Amino acid sequence: MERTFLAIKPDGVQRGLVGEIIRRFETKGFTLVGLKFLQVSKELAEEHYGVHRERPFFPSLVEFITSGPVVAMVWEGDGVIASARKIIGATNPLTAEPGTIRGDFGINIGRNIIHGSDAPETAQKEISLWFTDAELVNWQPHL
Ligand code: CMP
Repeated sequence: MERTFLAIKPDGVQRGLVGEIIRRFETKGFTLVGLKFLQVSKELAEEHYGVHRERPFFPSLVEFITSGPVVAMVWEGDGVIASARKIIGATNPLTAEPGTIRGDFGINIGRNIIHGSDAPETAQKEISLWFTDAELVNWQPHL
C-alpha cells in the first residue's frame, strides 16, 4: 500500500490548524500510520531539504522549519502521494486553489503550512528520514 510523508510546519501548528489538517486527510479516507510532534534539529532540516541546498531561500527554509514544533505524519492509501499533493495545493499559497489547504489558509510561499512528499522515491526517503520502522503502525480500518 502506498505511503506518503506529511509535515505540518511551525506556522500551521502556531495557527491552530493541526486538527483541521488531519481532518481533511481522515475524511478523505486515508489511513494514519505514523504521527509525532517534534522540534526539528538543524541536521534533520538540512537533510530533509537537501535538494534545495543551493537555492537562495535554503537558509530561511531551514531557519523556519526549526523555529517551532512540527507535526510529522505518515499516511497510507491508494494514490495517497498524488492525492495529498492535491489536497495540499500549489507550493505558493497565493496561487493555490481555494479548497486546498494552502489555498484556504495561506498567502506566503515561505509559510505554506504543510509539506508533502512529491513522488514515490521522495516519500520513501522522507518516511525513513523522519520515522523508524517501529514508529509506524501497520493496521487497516475495518470499514
Ligand atoms: P515545501 O513543500 O516544504 O518544499 C520546499 C519549500 O521551499 C516549499 O514548501 C516552500 O515553503 C519553500 N520555497 C519554495 N520556493 C520558495 C521561494 N521562492 N522562496 C521561499 N521559499 C520557497
